[in-house]
Amino acid sequence: MTTRNNVPDATKTATAAHALTRIDPRVPHPARVYAYWLGSKDHYPADREAAEEVAAHRPQVVTGGICEHVDADLRDPEKILAEAGRTLDLTRPAAVILTAVLHFLTDADDPAGVVAAHAAALAPGSFVAISHLTSDFAPDAVTAGVAVYNALVPAGITARSHAQVTALFGGLRLVAPGIVPVSEWRPGHAPVHSVSADLYAGLASTRRPADHTITS
Ligand SMILES: C[S@@+](CC[C@H](N)C(=O)[O-])C[C@H]1O[C@@H](n2cnc3c(N)ncnc32)[C@H](O)[C@@H]1O
Repeated sequence: MTTRNNVPDATKTATAAHALTRIDPRVPHPARVYAYWLGSKDHYPADREAAEEVAAHRPQVVTGGICEHVDADLRDPEKILAEAGRTLDLTRPAAVILTAVLHFLTDADDPAGVVAAHAAALAPGSFVAISHLTSDFAPDAVTAGVAVYNALVPAGITARSHAQVTALFGGLRLVAPGIVPVSEWRPGHAPVHSVSADLYAGLASTRRPADHTITS
């Protein structure tokens, strides 16, 4: 069987495998095609041609986005925000996604303060997402697991209760369904797994409840 370009499928398969392991500028490579969509400079004409053809059929794939890496500790929001602000326009709505990371901060690190500092830098209409380890669903097993982990890894982790995870959001306005087991977020979606992931998840708008007060 041949494709519309008259290239046998078997040849295409072999070419695809080859393209993933060797640099051949004549053959589009997924990383370079993606790099083209992201606005990077690292691609060849074959990559650009493939990227343009796909985009012609499905323009949504072209994000025009930029991916940058900030080398900073979460406990240093000032540095993160300063460096992120070089790439992101923080005067426009943005999202801070803190998935499975705040449990690496101890209470002494003031994780709620870290969340608040990030949220304070966001424009109205922005969101903060958090997922966080909890022992609420399996207290003995998770507490034992945390103890073993903390005995082996100096930085340690902290499982937090529903109330403690709620407190991390401070005064931010939670989006329904609130803070729930991660597999139950969000409404209209049945839990993916019957076994708990031992994580809570929540999403909040950076607008505070007071922002919604109707004044005449
Ligand atoms: C379980 S992974 C979660 C990664 C990612 N957020 C996700 O949801 O797939 C935890 C990550 O938190 C990072 N981490 C732990 N403590 C941190 C800190 N104080 N500042 C920044 N990153 C930290 C670790 O390096 C690791 O990459």
